[in-house]
Amino acid sequence: MATSFYTLGIESSCDDTAAAVLCDGKVLSNCIANQEIHQRYGGVVPELASRAHQSNIVPVVHDALQKAGIRKEELHLIAFTQGPGLLGSLLVGSSFAKSLAMGLNIPFYGVNHMQAHLLASFIEHPELETPVFPFLGVTLSGGHTQIVLCQAPFDMEVIGETKDDAIGEAFDKCGKIMGLPYPAGPQLDRLAQKGNPEAFAFPIPKMSGLDVSYSGIKTAFLNFINLHTQKETDFIKNNLVDLCASLQSALVKTIFEKINVAVEQKGITAVVLGGGVSANSEIRKQLKKKEKTDRWKVYLPPFEYTTDNAAMIGMVGYLKAQEKRFSDYTAVANPRLSF
Ligand code: KG4
Ligand code: ZN
Repeated sequence: MATSFYTLGIESSCDDTAAAVLCDGKVLSNCIANQEIHQRYGGVVPELASRAHQSNIVPVVHDALQKAGIRKEELHLIAFTQGPGLLGSLLVGSSFAKSLAMGLNIPFYGVNHMQAHLLASFIEHPELETPVFPFLGVTLSGGHTQIVLCQAPFDMEVIGETKDDAIGEAFDKCGKIMGLPYPAGPQLDRLAQKGNPEAFAFPIPKMSGLDVSYSGIKTAFLNFINLHTQKETDFIKNNLVDLCASLQSALVKTIFEKINVAVEQKGITAVVLGGGVSANSEIRKQLKKKEKTDRWKVYLPPFEYTTDNAAMIGMVGYLKAQEKRFSDYTAVANPRLSF
């Protein structure tokens, strides 16, 4: 392996076009083009996402190389998101990555996006302690909610997941019901910090094993809001912070109870968080508390590596390159790619 191994990571699974350059396990640049167009619709519109990826990908890759201070000819590997995600979005990133690798005559590797969320914690960072295997990976995002048993970088097994909506989707959809702009998660979290989490009670679904469900809470919340706004027009406005706090409490409790069961069942107290919702203050608070009360060890990567980003994709490529294993041209975009 080269002494300084340069990897270009490309991420395009949903609505962010991202590119990053890594030198070994260190991030030299981490660029992202968010697609604001979806805010108008209160959610991601797949066809608009693919079109925006097409216009963003060249400038974002160019930006990443420039910020890293290297030329594309110096790259050793291109890692791209192969799946899971939106097919049209994945196709833009994967086709671009494979073509560029072909043009440069270098290897490429198709990365599993969910695996990348968990391996993001291996990025070298001054404030980041590298996790030790085995650990429980918990990915909480707008598209996924999973508890993963991680034995080694490429030995991961999903032991629990949502059977319907993802936790971030529940945050966003319930936020939309209250009139919050998309994506509602961050604002809902901020408002919740000023409210009473016990003001209203929302149901915690009973699911078998380590699985969870979020569609029931969303429906219960919609019905609750409809019922109360019929009686009091300004019900949302008058109770906004308490609604946010109570809802957040139910959404976090749903997954937190299952993380507890997973820790007990597997006898593993190391927990690595990934995905945009891991920025949530309540989940962070509860996990940190467990470090004190039950000696858990919790790894929370910096925010820029927990939401969708290309640095985590590059990191997986770099880890794979150490095994000298790359993809071939049969590695096509796969919206349902599993571990
Ligand atoms: O991982 P991510 O950037 O994209 C994917 O969905 O893959 O996650 C985005 C999700 C959105 O649903 C957003 O509302 C949520 O993460 N989110 C939060 C917070 N910050 C981001 N949800 C709750 N609290 C937050 N602080
Ligand atoms: Zn993601």
